[in-house]
Amino acid sequence: MPSIVIVGMQWGDEAKGKVVDYVSQNADVVVRYNGGNNAGHTVVIDGEVYKFHTLPVGALNPGVTSVIADGVVIDPAVLVKELDGLKARNRNAVDLKISGNAHIIMPYHKLLDQLEEQRKADRKIGTTGRGIGPCYEDKISRIGIRVCELIDQDQFSSRLSENLKIKNEILTKIYGASPLSEAEIFAEYQAYAEKIAPYVCNTSALLYKAVKHNKRIIFEGAHGTLLDIDHGTYPYVTSSHTVAGGACIGTGIGPTEINRVIGVAKSYTTRVGEGWFPTELQDETGDYIRERGREYGTTTGRPRRCGWFDAVAVRFSARVNGAQAIALIALDVLAGLDKVRICSAYRIDEKIIVDFPTDPTQLKECLPVYDELPGWKEDISGIKNYEDLPANTKDYIKHVSEIVGVPVAMVSVGRGREQTIVIRPELLEP
Ligand code: IMP
Repeated sequence: MPSIVIVGMQWGDEAKGKVVDYVSQNADVVVRYNGGNNAGHTVVIDGEVYKFHTLPVGALNPGVTSVIADGVVIDPAVLVKELDGLKARNRNAVDLKISGNAHIIMPYHKLLDQLEEQRKADRKIGTTGRGIGPCYEDKISRIGIRVCELIDQDQFSSRLSENLKIKNEILTKIYGASPLSEAEIFAEYQAYAEKIAPYVCNTSALLYKAVKHNKRIIFEGAHGTLLDIDHGTYPYVTSSHTVAGGACIGTGIGPTEINRVIGVAKSYTTRVGEGWFPTELQDETGDYIRERGREYGTTTGRPRRCGWFDAVAVRFSARVNGAQAIALIALDVLAGLDKVRICSAYRIDEKIIVDFPTDPTQLKECLPVYDELPGWKEDISGIKNYEDLPANTKDYIKHVSEIVGVPVAMVSVGRGREQTIVIRPELLEP
């Protein structure tokens, strides 16, 4: 039962897609278990850039079964566009399975997400505006519409009618917006239903069978640990379980079937949207990192906030995920800096804090305490072996491993599939 969970250790955008793509080259099944098209994964294969929001990244590898599991929320318009896009690029061999239990993002979810952000004004979360929160709200309120209902015309018609009555009341009376048309939504969603129906099945049973047949399964986490609804920097979080445990919740696979957890962290930190960020750099070093790292959102195009590597946060992530290995991404971006810094603790007044506080009132007062290391000037993007990295780069990697308490098993020195250096291959295996 070789199952691996790949999980982001920061605030998302850790380039998990690249790690998933790497470990899933000999995988049998790749699974998305949480979130929706608020996620954005970029993979570069043979110089071609692929961006996914709903499909699992591993979908591109031939012979792989891709699963969109129960815990995901699906915008069918986006999913259909991604499938059509792959076909147009002659990559149509996607063996896709979609859980009938996954919830559907409806037009009113997207609208309510945006209207609610406007209403909150300076207290806004900075959501992606994709309707993720409102869709999960309906799921928890037990009024959501699931894939199995979408593909059954009668059920969809009655569920839509029932929901839209309430949503139109909210849209018009609370937000002063125009009501949505039931007939238009019905027609639009029936077209998606036809395209999606052939892929729908009981994915939990399928995964269980795969586990029992000793298939190699990769669970790809979306977003990052610090955006988890329970363990993240609430309320500036997303609405799903982004931690490794979410792989069980979102798929119906038991915890004892998971063999390995690989945490993915960038060599620095980024964040999009609002919320605390103790190591944020609002200066030219932050700009340097943003430009070199092309730190603009895959989903929204927003410039990402950039800062130094925060080992307090990543240590916390290592704990809540049970991470056994770290994939350290985008090391090449830090090249050219005289000094590089790693935040080893926080300080509030004279008090030193080593455990990451998720209590917002504490986090906003935390000042970073840094370890400063010499930087490296060399372009490392063409280096293939760990031994050939500059001594200062190796020291940086070693420092991250020691201070987080989890070994760095792999580093990435560029966006290409081949720009990956594996240091401890055994730690990337189940
Ligand atoms: P939502 O997921 O669209 O509701 O947004 C909630 C928060 O999570 C916002 O701060 C978003 O910017 C952030 N967020 C959601 N998905 C991602 C992601 O994949 N990468 C980085 N931030 C994300």
